[in-house]
Amino acid sequence: MKEKESSRLHPETLAIRTGIHRTQEQEHSEALFLTSSFVFDSAEEAADRFAGRAPGNIYARFTNPTLRALEERLAAMEGAEDCVATASGMAACLTVCMGTLQAGDHIVASRSLFGTTVQLLQKILGRFGVETSFVPLTDLDAWRAALRPSTRMLFLETPSNPLTEVGDLTALAELAHGHDALLVVDNCFCTPILQQPLAFGADLVLHSNTKYIDGQGRTLGGAICGSKALLEGPRNFVRTAGTSLSPFNAWVQCKGLETLALRMERHCANAAILAQWLQDRPEVEQVYYPGLADHPQADLVRKQQRLPGGILSFAVRGGQPTAWTLMDQLTLFSRTANLGDAKSTITHPASTTHSRISPEERAAAGIGDGLLRLSVGLEHVEDLRADLENAFCALSA
Ligand SMILES: Cc1ncc(COP(=O)(O)O)c(C=O)c1O
Repeated sequence: MKEKESSRLHPETLAIRTGIHRTQEQEHSEALFLTSSFVFDSAEEAADRFAGRAPGNIYARFTNPTLRALEERLAAMEGAEDCVATASGMAACLTVCMGTLQAGDHIVASRSLFGTTVQLLQKILGRFGVETSFVPLTDLDAWRAALRPSTRMLFLETPSNPLTEVGDLTALAELAHGHDALLVVDNCFCTPILQQPLAFGADLVLHSNTKYIDGQGRTLGGAICGSKALLEGPRNFVRTAGTSLSPFNAWVQCKGLETLALRMERHCANAAILAQWLQDRPEVEQVYYPGLADHPQADLVRKQQRLPGGILSFAVRGGQPTAWTLMDQLTLFSRTANLGDAKSTITHPASTTHSRISPEERAAAGIGDGLLRLSVGLEHVEDLRADLENAFCALSA
């Protein structure tokens, strides 16, 4: 599809109609290229392809038509010039840092990040001379105060995992660019259907394709979207270090993109109903959901997101014992660490996804022992509500 044409279309259409490269068989749906290497017609052509003088695939660690289809779709949906697919969301986080930073550089990151991202920034990149300062996502003064002459990246998730705080993308982009730094946004909770961070000034957008993009919890994958120039380093890192996505996973995720818009609408509608209902439960101390009228950044949610999302968290009175008992009573919600699945899932962040960060850091990030995260799936919402109600009733039995 021509660039001009694609910029007029909505993400819902781009998810279905971009990245189509038919073979001579003229297949309607994209083919799965399960091959690790590609054949050259001559020695000269091999040399030309390696030198970039001739088009064509070389080796699946860095070129594969199925992967390219996914990359083109995601880039178009995010309003980006290009996209690099990676083996997982964490591979995308690693690749973006290794592809744009060097020893001595400094990152300012939101302290409300997925626990493994905190580990990556603190424990792994820290060993290679890239230091990270963590600040409260919504405190712009804290972001500003944390900047150093060596700061080259601002990194955040919005809405955050698991407390659904919302960061001000326009303000943070201004801060980053005034300091010659990149604004990198993990857009995993929203997907480009609900939010396009590049439109608010972000430089690079990350995805864990494992979540809503696959949408049925079957594959791992990740992606980085942005300008061709900024993606040169990350693309070279994928080629060199092998943080590449498998063609099979890319093919599954291409299929996932085609139904993403419809699924996101249902995830959001179900989550909104459950969030309202949970607010009225006496066992619940607080509900965290961007769609609630009393969400602390409700104006930003309306500005940045088309819909509030399918993830919510709630804190139960009684801490961990109550949270665990409630979880164990549920029969429909799966007890699992994944999110963005057709199946609703429940997670106790303090003992699972965020267990590798210290109790002090968890407390500072507001992740208490009574907090539970729901990824609201595509089941009938009345069945989900009844499952939660039965579990709450069992608490007092
Ligand atoms: C917000 C966020 N970013 C990144 C990741 C990492 O993704 P993956 O599991 O595909 O490596 C996760 C995983 O849960 C996540 O929730």
